[in-house]
Amino acid sequence: MRVMEIRGEWGYDNLQAGERPEVAPGPRDVVLRMKAASLNYRDYLMIDRGYGRRSGTLPLIPVSDGVGDVVEIGAEVTRVAVGDRVCPCFSQTWFHGPYSDDHWDSYLGGPLDGVMREYMTLSEEGVVKVPDHMSDLEAATLPVDALTAWSAVVDKGGATAGDTVLVQGTGGVALFCLQIAKLIGAEVLITSSSDEKLARCRALGADHVANYRETPAWSEWAREVTGGRGCDLVIELGGAGTLEQSTRALAPEGTVSLVGNLSGSVAQVNLFHVFVRAARLQGVATGNRETLEQMMRAFTVTPIRPVVDEKVYGFDELKAALLAVPEGRHFGNICLEF
Ligand SMILES: NC(=O)c1ccc[n+]([C@@H]2O[C@H](COP(=O)([O-])OP(=O)(O)OC[C@H]3O[C@@H](n4cnc5c(N)ncnc54)[C@H](OP(=O)(O)O)[C@@H]3O)[C@@H](O)[C@H]2O)c1
Repeated sequence: MRVMEIRGEWGYDNLQAGERPEVAPGPRDVVLRMKAASLNYRDYLMIDRGYGRRSGTLPLIPVSDGVGDVVEIGAEVTRVAVGDRVCPCFSQTWFHGPYSDDHWDSYLGGPLDGVMREYMTLSEEGVVKVPDHMSDLEAATLPVDALTAWSAVVDKGGATAGDTVLVQGTGGVALFCLQIAKLIGAEVLITSSSDEKLARCRALGADHVANYRETPAWSEWAREVTGGRGCDLVIELGGAGTLEQSTRALAPEGTVSLVGNLSGSVAQVNLFHVFVRAARLQGVATGNRETLEQMMRAFTVTPIRPVVDEKVYGFDELKAALLAVPEGRHFGNICLEF
């Protein structure tokens, strides 16, 4: 079968098409014919061994998020049937309960081989059915970006109807946060570097928008549009460069869901804004399979259409697609159609 893999040394120049043998399923395994993939910031970092020894070993098939059709099942499989459309879970061991460091070893796209291949053989426990109304490209975005957003807003963020939720940027995780916050009946504020992207956020339901380049002190804007109260939940994607604004934007007893570190990891924060508001800093590490299944049900009952960037890449265009990630021109998820 055809694969894309990093061979020899880490780095973009060593990302190549190759061939690997197909793996026959064991009694509780399923074989997927992969149809689409979606990129995360993690995938971009992984190619350069961005997670050090936790990146795994070479050769490595990259990319965590994808979707495929079940084409073969082992004799004892009960969770899915041939013909089902499923996505592989990012963690192949974290099914329920709290995060444990051991689950890192089961992440697809590093250290385990990811989705950039024609066929994937996985345990039936490591896949989840996707909603019928979504296209393959849309469904490919669910295992990491959508699940992280669901955890950040609902499962860990604790947002509920009537809350105010602030989201940073218009990448894959951010737009899912916007859509999920609207789904649960929250008021949504969103920041972006682009007025054109902000207009598209309005069309997706954003209630208030601000350009963070023109309004670097956007916490003041957030307090103003919320009548001075601030936000119940801020989804932190910028990291070091934005955490100070995020804590200033919080309402009393508000939460920062700490998801990303796009501008670095070592932050300087005025702690006064944290304790005076009795605020909470909540780290988010994707989520487990149980939460993914809960999210799938929610997306089926109230059909969400994941936002796929208009530029879609082919299987062999992985390098170009990955290099587009840090350029930040995309809106939503950068996807590949196989
Ligand atoms: N904790 C987890 O489990 C988890 C899971 C997935 C992702 N993440 C992290 O979440 C972050 C976003 O991931 P993603 O896949 O959504 O990335 P992405 O699709 O590449 O989104 C990047 C977007 O974020 C905005 N942005 C960039 N720098 C910013 C800054 N300094 N301040 C505010 N916004 C900024 C830009 O939006 P505009 O163009 O609109 O300005 C940019 O287009 C990354 O740090 C990633 O590693 C964490």
